Amino acid sequence: MGGDYEKSKKILIFGATGYLGKYMVKASVSMGHPTYAYVRPLKPNSDPSDPKLQLHNQFQSMGVTIFQGELGEHEKLVSILKQVDVVISTLAVPQHLEQIKIINAMKEAGNIERFVPSEFGNEVDRVKGALPPFQGLLDNKKKIRRATEAAGICYTYVSANSFAAYFVDYLLHPHNQNLDQLTIYGTGEAKAVLNYEEDVAAYTVKAAIDPRVSNRVIVYRPPANIVSQLDLVSSWEKKTGRSFKTTHIPEEDIIKLSETLPYPGNIPVGILHNIFIKGEQVSFELTEDDLEASRLYPDYKYTSVDQLLDICLVNPPKPKLAAFA
Ligand SMILES: NC(=O)c1ccc[n+]([C@@H]2O[C@H](COP(=O)([O-])OP(=O)(O)OC[C@H]3O[C@@H](n4cnc5c(N)ncnc54)[C@H](OP(=O)(O)O)[C@@H]3O)[C@@H](O)[C@H]2O)c1
Repeated sequence: MGGDYEKSKKILIFGATGYLGKYMVKASVSMGHPTYAYVRPLKPNSDPSDPKLQLHNQFQSMGVTIFQGELGEHEKLVSILKQVDVVISTLAVPQHLEQIKIINAMKEAGNIERFVPSEFGNEVDRVKGALPPFQGLLDNKKKIRRATEAAGICYTYVSANSFAAYFVDYLLHPHNQNLDQLTIYGTGEAKAVLNYEEDVAAYTVKAAIDPRVSNRVIVYRPPANIVSQLDLVSSWEKKTGRSFKTTHIPEEDIIKLSETLPYPGNIPVGILHNIFIKGEQVSFELTEDDLEASRLYPDYKYTSVDQLLDICLVNPPKPKLAAFA
């Protein structure tokens, strides 16, 4: 199960140079798919030390074909889309609605076998209690779902839950050896799902070419990755031999912050509330009809949260600390 159908597909990635996009490119290439990236043009005469230029060079050395262009260049997009089979978008949050331009171009190209829009968080059609700043973000993701369906494009919607390296870094600060204080949102008891970014990318590339996930939602909820903040702190204390004082921020304070902070600073607060106080990522039971990644790809050895903490002991990954979404 989980591999016989696999064959090489031409995969085009939007947002390839971003946080998740880099993992996606690596996963696609390592699974043997001809991989393409549609990226914004570099500045003319970019300095060799320009990180974007270096990344483009790195991609090219991995065999990735780079197309430079803006999302609004419709004709260019259509002609590029005609050369590929599958589209995965990892565009940034402010560009979520701009994916309409990709949808329009895919509709005209007419050949795209699967579109994976940029979501990679909570299951947007099943979140119930989001605070308004987070709900706004979810609504944009829903609009893209509905536009994809209306255009008749075959899709896979990915609910990747939380990025593990990202949130371990945010909650435990593994780089800071001298820290003795950690912040807990709410009681710390709500369970969340923390999936290592490498696995998020690998599962996504697998799902994007898997007929079983055609026109379906796939949820990434591997059993070993369901943890609370208190679980995380206690595991980290055991592994490091340190003990941490914890400061709890009550739910009322988080709600107030979400109402008073200006956009976009209010979005992360809404996300923290939904994931770590409401526990929405595990608020619904997965039935036999749901597609869950670790059940669908049992042979893929994902990195558990416990294993990630071991990695963090030796060499903690360094995720960007922008607004998580
Ligand atoms: N579940 C979680 O824990 C979690 C955490 C973080 C993010 N996410 C989700 O993961 C997805 C990707 O997020 P990310 O943090 O990886 O994104 P990101 O690094 O902020 O950006 C991704 C890419 O978007 C493109 N982009 C940025 N500004 C643009 C603009 N003005 N016009 C066109 N393209 C632009 C850039 O690509 P080019 O410059 O190459 O064109 C950039 O590399 C999002 O859907 C986000 O909601 C989930």
